[in-house]
Amino acid sequence: TEFLVIDREGNSHEVEGAEGASFMEAIRDAGIDEMLALCGGCLSCATCHVYVEEAAIGRLPAMSAEEDDLLDGSDHRTLLSRLACQIFLSAELSGLRIALAPED
Ligand code: FES
Repeated sequence: TEFLVIDREGNSHEVEGAEGASFMEAIRDAGIDEMLALCGGCLSCATCHVYVEEAAIGRLPAMSAEEDDLLDGSDHRTLLSRLACQIFLSAELSGLRIALAPED
């Protein structure tokens, strides 16, 4: 599954990842080191904060209360915010555009 990542400098990267992998893993494995993912996906760091393109936000599964709480701790939360370790690649989401949120 391919998708597009916009880094904090505004550069686009085409990223390919296996279906079922989290967006965080795919971005990190693509060598985009701005994706810190300090907790490794265990929902405690929020350094995998991303903005999902508006047209697609409704196609993602709803967020858990834990994800919601963690995002609340960010100064950069918007309606497009998700944690990339909590959303997973699927054929349906192929071509998705996501941007890395600024660091808190
Ligand atoms: Fe830490 Fe997503 S990697 S919350």
